[in-house]
Amino acid sequence: MTTIEQKTENLLGVLEGQPVIPVLKISRVADAVPLARALARGGLPAVEITLRTPAALEAIEAVAAEVPEAIVGAGTILNGAQFAEAAAAKARFIVSPGSTAELLEAASSSDIPLLPGAITPGEIMAAQAAGYSVLKFFPAEQAGGAAFLKSLASPFAGVKFCPTGGIGPANAGDYLSLGNVVCVGGSWVAPDDLIAAGRWDEIAELARGAAGMARR
Ligand code: 3PG
Repeated sequence: MTTIEQKTENLLGVLEGQPVIPVLKISRVADAVPLARALARGGLPAVEITLRTPAALEAIEAVAAEVPEAIVGAGTILNGAQFAEAAAAKARFIVSPGSTAELLEAASSSDIPLLPGAITPGEIMAAQAAGYSVLKFFPAEQAGGAAFLKSLASPFAGVKFCPTGGIGPANAGDYLSLGNVVCVGGSWVAPDDLIAAGRWDEIAELARGAAGMARR
């Protein structure tokens, strides 16, 4: 069994690889493979496919099986059952907007790293007590944005965040300039209309722009 420290290292290896993790909502399974290929071509191999659509698990499975250059994660994992389903679909990392005892229990008996969400000092302290030092910060803009995150750096010096929610090309730089931000997540690189129309080259272009964003 992989230790939580090792899982955190593995997760950091993924998150440090690119400034932006695409957050994907996939309605048609058939879109998953060309979408993941386009994002990888643009420089964003790691993607988070959210369990917000009935197609999500099959989409994760398809990307894991058919796009070797991609690193597919599962997002919006809310409970132990979904953790198990995402693991069975071969997700390489698991993302949750928050954390519960049940979710942490599922994660502790798996080798797949979990990126749990936390916003408040109390939530961050609970996550730290459970061994987590890399956290999702969602919904970032609505919760207080880059200014809020910046003020967490001093009390929580050892914690790194992946903020998501309301982040786009105009404000991603505000987050990426912070020392406690490892990367940001966002759906802007894979807009619904471009996916629906199969405009993969335009998505690869959006990915290229995001992949080139500077980090601190
Ligand atoms: C998430 O789950 O990370 C967010 O829904 C992504 O937010 P965005 O659509 O505002 O980028």
